[in-house]
Amino acid sequence: MCGIVGYTGSREASGVLLDGLRKLEYRGYDSSGMAVLLDGVIELRRSVGKLSRLFDEVAKRPVSGKTGIGHTRWATHGRPTEENAHPHMEGGVAVVHNGIIENYLALKEELIREGARFKSETDTEILSHLIYREIRNGARLEEAVREAVRNVKGAFAIAAISEHEPGMIVGVRVECPLIVGIGEGEMMLASDIPAILDVTRSAIFLKDGEMVTLTRDGVKLQTLRGERFHREPRHIDWSPIMAEKGGYRHFMRKEIAEQPRAITDTCRGLLLEEEGDVFLNGFDVPLIDVERVYLTACGTSWHAALAGKYIFEELFRIPTEVDLASEFRYRNPLIDKKCLVIALSQSGETADTLAAVKEVKRRGASTIAVCNVIESSLTREADWSFMTHAGPEIGVASTKAFTSQLVALYLLAVYFGRRTEKITRETGMGLIQELLKLPKKIDKVFEEEGRIEAIARKYFHSRDFIYLGRGVNFPIALEGALKLKEISYIHAEGYAAGEMKHGPIALIDEDMPVVALAPLDASYPKMLGNMEEVKARGGRLIAVINEGDSEAAARVDDVIRVPVSTPFLTPVLLSVPLQLLAYHIAVNKGTDIDQPRNLAKSVTVE
Ligand code: AGP
Repeated sequence: MCGIVGYTGSREASGVLLDGLRKLEYRGYDSSGMAVLLDGVIELRRSVGKLSRLFDEVAKRPVSGKTGIGHTRWATHGRPTEENAHPHMEGGVAVVHNGIIENYLALKEELIREGARFKSETDTEILSHLIYREIRNGARLEEAVREAVRNVKGAFAIAAISEHEPGMIVGVRVECPLIVGIGEGEMMLASDIPAILDVTRSAIFLKDGEMVTLTRDGVKLQTLRGERFHREPRHIDWSPIMAEKGGYRHFMRKEIAEQPRAITDTCRGLLLEEEGDVFLNGFDVPLIDVERVYLTACGTSWHAALAGKYIFEELFRIPTEVDLASEFRYRNPLIDKKCLVIALSQSGETADTLAAVKEVKRRGASTIAVCNVIESSLTREADWSFMTHAGPEIGVASTKAFTSQLVALYLLAVYFGRRTEKITRETGMGLIQELLKLPKKIDKVFEEEGRIEAIARKYFHSRDFIYLGRGVNFPIALEGALKLKEISYIHAEGYAAGEMKHGPIALIDEDMPVVALAPLDASYPKMLGNMEEVKARGGRLIAVINEGDSEAAARVDDVIRVPVSTPFLTPVLLSVPLQLLAYHIAVNKGTDIDQPRNLAKSVTVE
């Protein structure tokens, strides 16, 4: 779970690599480094800690050259030290790597027996030794990389340069993403799209078992068996500015603000207002055979899946189960061809989610990916893909991707409900109308930000928080608590409000802020009861309620208001103030909001 980048062309590579790494820093940020090739000599720069340290290092000791590779690391094997930072060098070969090499210990022993001396604790270093072993035996870089990789088991993407072949980068993809950027007289390699956008918006997405050789004038594509192939580049419609902070202090805050746009883009071209229906091209899921839906995901995407269960069961009227991807695949689930499995993932690269999809496919289920990154591993694996168009999400804490997933599930439920006649045209028209109003309603929630900032100032010293919700809003309570934990490091728990009296109520006292989600829905009277229980025990209540609700407002310490919507889109409206609350608490605490400690954006290890 790291970011890799490569550049060859006419510009100074170090600047392009640093800019690219900045866009990939969300993938890991405990150390970073680069290798730049000039006049047949590779110069290395590496530093421990945030990427800004590498910027300082390169400013202190500039490095010149038109070809280079870079890396930002999230440690799996070996602590975050300079020795363990990438690139790893051996005999004039430098390598960067994202992923895990499973058989590295056996290979390391073999190499040590042959006389190799290791400088790091990483699995990656065996790659530089293996490639150099081939070069020593007379192989060209391309051939050497192919041979080296043949020995290796695991999931990885790598990029290598050699002092013996200036101007060339060789990359390989095996189960970790790798993208080739095609410029004019300059080429790039990267783990993710934002890293290439300053140079080009034309990209080739490598598939597993494929390799690429880049020179400034062209790319050569081949399989690991050496078979050449051609693939047309795709135009990327993300602009470089989408991957910048655009005047905001943090990516997270910018991404929260982008939600009306993200939702509009996710719905674009899909809403059939007159028919009360959703247009999904090529979604010929054999619904007649489907008896059960499974939703699977990790983290925030799992929270969207949990909300999806309520939406699917109500609108599509089909039994729907939700599983954490990391549990699903290990519990021998009852899956067969009568099951439809929908996997949700912002990145499309989460290892557990990918593994779950592979497993259910093996058992005969139909699979749909709900994903934010085109050509990601998940979209390739699934039978159908529903793309959310949230745009690049850089902040480690997911915000706009989450609400776009909620909307995607709503759209799928309407689509399936209409296909199976569980939803009438009239009902469908009402559901589509509500969706069309959603972006403007989110804009209204932003008017509450001043009030949310004041609440954040009041409570940011608290050690614990409880979030309560009912029904489709229970997962939103879980998500609110997760956002707070991730970026402010405050302990927070989300509960189904009805569960309070079965145990958690023992935690309530005057030091415990409780965030209650109490929109005017069928559970509202029960939520009021739960809020009374909290107040009666001296707890401090922050309620997120609907505009115009004075009853709940009168009973609580602090109030945040959101517009009224259909119960199935209310989770989107409730999510926004919870994101803002977590954000402003973290601002008050002075934590590293976009790159919280110990986290990485996509978890590509199981
Ligand atoms: C969200 O704030 C998280 N950092 C994390 O839980 C994330 O949602 C999870 O790792 C799944 O990622 P994915 O959506 O890219 O699969």
